[in-house]
Amino acid sequence: MGQAPRIVDPSEQGVASLDPGDWDAFRATTHAALDRAIDRLQQAAAGPVWRPTPAEVRERFAEALPADGSGLDAVLTRVEADIAPYVVGNTHPRFLGWAHGAGTPVGLVAELVAAGLNVNCGGRDHIGPVVERQVVRWAAEAFGFPPESTGVFVTGSSQANFLGVLIARDVLLGHGVRVRGLKAEDRQLAAYCSAEAHGCVMQAMELAGIGSGFLRAIETDADGRVQVAQLHAAIRADRASGLAPFLIVGTAGGVNFGAFDDLDALADVAAAEGLWLHVDGAFGALTRLAPSLAPLTSGLERAHSVAFDFHKWAHVPYDAGFLLVRDGGAHKGTFATPAAYLSRAPRGLASGEDWPCDYGPDLSRGFRALKVWLTFQSLGAAAIGAAIEANCAAARRLAGHIAASERFELAAPVPLNIVCFRIKGDTSGAASQELVMRLQERGLAAPSTTRVGGAAVARAAIFNHRTTFADIDAVFADACRVAADLGA
Ligand SMILES: Cc1ncc(COP(=O)(O)O)c(C=O)c1O
Repeated sequence: MGQAPRIVDPSEQGVASLDPGDWDAFRATTHAALDRAIDRLQQAAAGPVWRPTPAEVRERFAEALPADGSGLDAVLTRVEADIAPYVVGNTHPRFLGWAHGAGTPVGLVAELVAAGLNVNCGGRDHIGPVVERQVVRWAAEAFGFPPESTGVFVTGSSQANFLGVLIARDVLLGHGVRVRGLKAEDRQLAAYCSAEAHGCVMQAMELAGIGSGFLRAIETDADGRVQVAQLHAAIRADRASGLAPFLIVGTAGGVNFGAFDDLDALADVAAAEGLWLHVDGAFGALTRLAPSLAPLTSGLERAHSVAFDFHKWAHVPYDAGFLLVRDGGAHKGTFATPAAYLSRAPRGLASGEDWPCDYGPDLSRGFRALKVWLTFQSLGAAAIGAAIEANCAAARRLAGHIAASERFELAAPVPLNIVCFRIKGDTSGAASQELVMRLQERGLAAPSTTRVGGAAVARAAIFNHRTTFADIDAVFADACRVAADLGA
């Protein structure tokens, strides 16, 4: 086929181009691949939510490095047979696991355009950082931060939380700690978060070299909010024993059931104690786009930094994590690195004081800003907010079914879009775990599990803008059938 690269003799022409030999054939093949991708999104509800990857398919991915290409047509045929059917399933409206965004058709186009431009957004004077700066301003506007706030794209909130911890560390110890290292400090730092905080906060303390042993997980109330009196007490106790408190990590949308800390109260504590307030708003921060949910994040505008993901509830294609920081000087001072090859010039391509690489550890980085910009420009923030509200309404519907059912019971509050439930009487969690695995294996739905009170419970997180009330009713009916098979 004409899609094989045109092999030329480098000694003859000085090139060994990887471009197609036959552009017309390439165009036809590519248009067909795009059509297939659009078909898949149009028919996202068709077929099983998930199916296991068969052993023989896995084996086909154990081949040696291909010295000779087989051409794009042949490889795309393999994509249809061996890859597309076996993905995680988060585009399907009955995918209810973890905290996955569903993607959008405009996101598909954005990825295509970005791949064609193949922009390195680490720095330099071109439109990539300009678009990224636009997204920073939008995030600042949405969260009530000042327009001069800084921000940076990263893979996801795990990274963004890590960067937030590093900035807070530098704010207490000064940027000289980057050179001296923590061992030179005579003080051990300590940080505070909710018992509902995501595991990546603990990991961030480890990666930062501070140690997760100095992250205090403060108990929460029945709604999953940090108990402020206990937070105060923990900070005082640490100071009394010679530690140096430096950071409070608030949670806006806890991963278990969507708990929100009282961010105003945390901001008061942070101000009184002189601590940095970082908010992990991985999915919950974007509830700011939904007018009816905005009160949940009251106080977010007082945080020093916020981690969140456009790839979750804004449905921008993976990955598009983000860190927003109020104090650009603190942000830049934590990451900017002088290097001869990154010197800025007064004019030309190397001009501009602020490059994205000054705000995080990545130098080479893709054009994530394009897919966010294109998504918000095409769809509008209001439509994304409305989809978030619809997910919460669907969660309330499922919670209503569970609460009224003879087989199941709710295992946690439902403040947002996440419904934790168990089979009645399943104190060990084994039956609820089995229920989830069977639903997944039959391809009917893909909830996940979490632990409540030490036992596994089923967890249905409704993050998909395609999920309808009919899907919710069907998932509940399937869960009832599977539970009946289990003797519940
Ligand atoms: C509350 C919370 N924080 C952090 C994360 C980690 O985000 P990411 O998977 O984008 O690294 C998640 C992921 O679901 C989350 O729900």
